[in-house]
Amino acid sequence: MYDKDLLHTLFREKYGEHPVVTYFSPGRVNLIGEHIDYNGGFVLPAAISLGITAIVHHRSDQVVRVYAHDMQEEVVFSVGEYPVFNKKSEPLHWSDYIRATLQVMQDKKLPLGGADIVMASDLPLGAGLSSSAALECLIAFIFGEENYRADRTQLALDAQTAERKYVGVNCGIMDQFAIANGREKEAMLLNCATLDYEYVRADFGTNNLVIINSNKSRSLAESKYNERRAECDAAFAQMSPFDPAEDLCHVHEISLGYLSDDMLYKRAKHAVLENKRVLLAAEAMEAGDMETFGQLLTESHISLDEDYEVSGHELNTIVHYSTHFDGCLGARMTGAGFGGCCIALVEKEKTPRFMQYVGKKYAEKTGLKADFFVAEMSDGVRRLADADSL
Ligand code: GLA
Repeated sequence: MYDKDLLHTLFREKYGEHPVVTYFSPGRVNLIGEHIDYNGGFVLPAAISLGITAIVHHRSDQVVRVYAHDMQEEVVFSVGEYPVFNKKSEPLHWSDYIRATLQVMQDKKLPLGGADIVMASDLPLGAGLSSSAALECLIAFIFGEENYRADRTQLALDAQTAERKYVGVNCGIMDQFAIANGREKEAMLLNCATLDYEYVRADFGTNNLVIINSNKSRSLAESKYNERRAECDAAFAQMSPFDPAEDLCHVHEISLGYLSDDMLYKRAKHAVLENKRVLLAAEAMEAGDMETFGQLLTESHISLDEDYEVSGHELNTIVHYSTHFDGCLGARMTGAGFGGCCIALVEKEKTPRFMQYVGKKYAEKTGLKADFFVAEMSDGVRRLADADSL
């Protein structure tokens, strides 16, 4: 979490002395269940302690001023009668996520007041830890706390609508759901077909869950993401006449035989088997069976690389050296892929050596510097303390 005192000082410099409220929106890490939230599958994500912190003064008029410390940039606009989102900028501007979220709330005729906001993040941006969903959920919560506090599923759905309808990425529900509903020390087993979920204790025994940022930008992610979705829809359409399943994750394995196209076969195979791996992984975590949990992580990676084809040289290099380290039980890419982050399950006492080894090998092979974090699971988007006056 970004230093709150520093942010308070920044707020005072920018917007003067006012009563303010502090909000925090976490990033998320997905333990397993990749690219299946939009195929009706199970996923196992968790909100993490890295995220976006915002100091907010709720105004009595309809002016919104947001200063993003990471970008050293301010945007000013008003909410209310006029559309706040006109057209997405090319390339995407950070404020597009804010305008998109407010537009969804305005479309729903939720009452919106103005606000002065100073925000900063310790979540790496655009790195596969859902910084965009964290921002969408943060904005929805700041402007609609009354409405969303008791209905966090609706918060997730509205933030997802912002991303799909206005930002233009046809994403699933996993990221926004994890950020809205996260809980300290827990992951959640989410059924994306029904949005039923249960918390699963994120206890890795004598191991750490290490997040490794490849620092490889995810330039392809958006276009390839929409392409994969279309391929899954095509695969499902071809099997539907022969299989009663309601979504791709639930077709019978035998029905994969109806797919004559190799590429569609591989996409569908990933979805069906990844869904099974999620349930096995949740069971293994509950039973404290970290060997099995680790193996499932690595199997998931191989499937994402070979069958779903969303990995790449950088992520594969990290997983390769991670899994060859004595003391690592398994590793995989996490998030949409094509860059971004990996996770690895590593014995606690060997974690510093793991970071040194993988960091060195990765730099030798790719010329890039990896960043390492030990994941801590956190509560979802929230107000941090009672209103404190500056
Ligand atoms: C992105 C999307 C999610 C999910 C993952 C892949 O993070 O926003 O909905 O599809 O990719 O698992």
